[in-house]
Amino acid sequence: MSAESLYPVQPEVAAHTLTDEATYKALYQQSVVNPDGFWREQAERIDWIKPFTRVKQTSFDDHHVDIKWFADGTLNVSANCLDRHLEERGDQAAIIWEGDDPSEHKVITYRDLHEQVSKFANALRGQDVHRGDVVTIYMPMIPEAAVAMLACARVGAIHSVVFGGFSPEALAGRIIDCNSKLVITADEALRGGKRIPLKANVDQALTHPETRSIQNVIVVKRTGGEINWYPHRDLAYDDLMRVAGSVCAPKEMGAEEPLFILYTSGSTGKPKGVLHTTAGYLVFVALTHEKVFDYRPGEVFWCTADVGWVTGHSYILYGPLANGATTLMYEGVPNYPDVTRVAKIIDKHKVNILYTAPTAIRAMMAQGKAAVEGADGSSLRLLGSVGEPINPQAWHWYYETVGQSRCPIVDTWWQTETGGILISPLPGATALKPGSATRPFFGVVPGIVDNQGNLLEGVAEGNLVILDSWPGQMRSIYRDHDRFVDTYFKAYRGMYFTGDGARRDEDGYYWITGRVDDVLNISGHRMGTAEIESAMVAHPKVAEAAAVGVPHDLKGQGIYVYVSLNTGEHSSEELSQELKQWVRHEIGPIAVPEVIQFAASLPKTRSGKIMRRILRKIATGDYESLGDISTLADPSVVQDLIETHRDLH
Ligand code: PRX
Repeated sequence: MSAESLYPVQPEVAAHTLTDEATYKALYQQSVVNPDGFWREQAERIDWIKPFTRVKQTSFDDHHVDIKWFADGTLNVSANCLDRHLEERGDQAAIIWEGDDPSEHKVITYRDLHEQVSKFANALRGQDVHRGDVVTIYMPMIPEAAVAMLACARVGAIHSVVFGGFSPEALAGRIIDCNSKLVITADEALRGGKRIPLKANVDQALTHPETRSIQNVIVVKRTGGEINWYPHRDLAYDDLMRVAGSVCAPKEMGAEEPLFILYTSGSTGKPKGVLHTTAGYLVFVALTHEKVFDYRPGEVFWCTADVGWVTGHSYILYGPLANGATTLMYEGVPNYPDVTRVAKIIDKHKVNILYTAPTAIRAMMAQGKAAVEGADGSSLRLLGSVGEPINPQAWHWYYETVGQSRCPIVDTWWQTETGGILISPLPGATALKPGSATRPFFGVVPGIVDNQGNLLEGVAEGNLVILDSWPGQMRSIYRDHDRFVDTYFKAYRGMYFTGDGARRDEDGYYWITGRVDDVLNISGHRMGTAEIESAMVAHPKVAEAAAVGVPHDLKGQGIYVYVSLNTGEHSSEELSQELKQWVRHEIGPIAVPEVIQFAASLPKTRSGKIMRRILRKIATGDYESLGDISTLADPSVVQDLIETHRDLH
């Protein structure tokens, strides 16, 4: 590592930090030597109804994976995010909402939000939604999405938020998997000036015969666009709110009762319902939000994620609100109406901390200085990055152009499964290296193992594992604990396997090198190759499909799919377009392949396994280093693939 690319903590940052280098080291040490003591103390940051006596009861033994934190305590998440702040900061903004259209914004105080959540929680009870019921939330980025999530938490229902960009098919699959009782949606979403027909998508999803568990659909009016209405099933949010009482006692929940399910893609099969529970999750997101962003009361925190992803759950909603912060929620996309939008929002709402994804940074960077044209940007104090490795070029642009070379960047590595940030700089404690997520957070013990599972010491590269539990960890896959164990604890015994590769340098810094399994990262969104393939082969003309990732300037990775057709079918540009539309319909726009390459057959081993390594190389035009192809059942397939690839490009 050359000296130029090390950014020491700046003196002004060090002077104001909550956590300097010495504090980080001492606390980190304490957190891993005596996790019980460390987390017992940290758990005091939230309000308990009944205090816990046990702290950590966890086992990564693959015969008996069991994760419990603070298990005998009771609490309510919505009371922690709302009620307890009323006395001190009832009139402070809890949510600043910025509309897709720059002329629209709203400020919702803690008192307002508490009232809306209490009313909606009463409305949910009125629809017979109670502890343990699953509620699907398919919403635009509007305050009612936050109200819906917090109201579920208030009555003890489990929310399953489905990203509004998913198709009716994908929504139906997620409703069926968790046997959800209710859907909360809006007439339409607005993104980048375009309308997305959420209610119509719900209507279509519910034509699926297995979605009969759904009793009602609650519809928020966002655009007033025309929608179909089914009176036996559909309920208007406004009608429910008009009659709902504003006093609602929060349900006393056990620490380990479920808070939410969030579906995410893996390397095999259908999306997994990642299950997070109540107390450990809340303690972990509150602590990470405060320490990683060095958050101080009164500051405006803007996380640009969608609430449909874990980043939105943990760092738009639960972490900030548990800390009594002001969280900014933006309905639209970063480049609408133009590339200056992000900078304009920062100035308009005096944002202090911006937390966004490399894909958004690269999109702004593509416009050079135009992205900050006319902007002041002086309110900003700290920048964050999440979702995929940030390439040093984007890091430097973010640091210099958005952060005016004043603001540290926290490159935060984590996953849906981890609940919150696991590896990240702390702004006042960690010298930065562009492209590195740097060091573990308190209580987190990462390791690097080789393919045989041997733990590597010192400078090393291999598979990233976590050696012991932390409170924000997922507890299970909803109703499929065996799959949870198989997915995360079987690859390397006694360790949590992340699916990521990483390198550790001479300073003990971690550099995430990307997924080592068949999961792609498209614009910071996770997409399993298996999901894309199964959508493809569901098309009547397709015999077989294999999806791989290829580097993409803006998205990080793009999707490249090899397709072989059924006998008698012929490849054509029209069919290629048709298949792209098909995937959009089956999963959603984020899964649409960049390229479809038709192939007479796919390269397989004699036992029938598709050799993706070869497909990845061919997709990037790297024909020279295909490695040993003699183990293929039919090595001549490769030459055909190369020729078609050449013709395509
Ligand atoms: O590959 C890693 C990448 O995103 C994956 C997790 O995706 P998801 O569950 O959708 O959660 C995204 C937001 C937390 C990881 O396995 N990833 C996430 N953050 C980083 C990252 N890769 C490199 N650097 C990061 N900071």
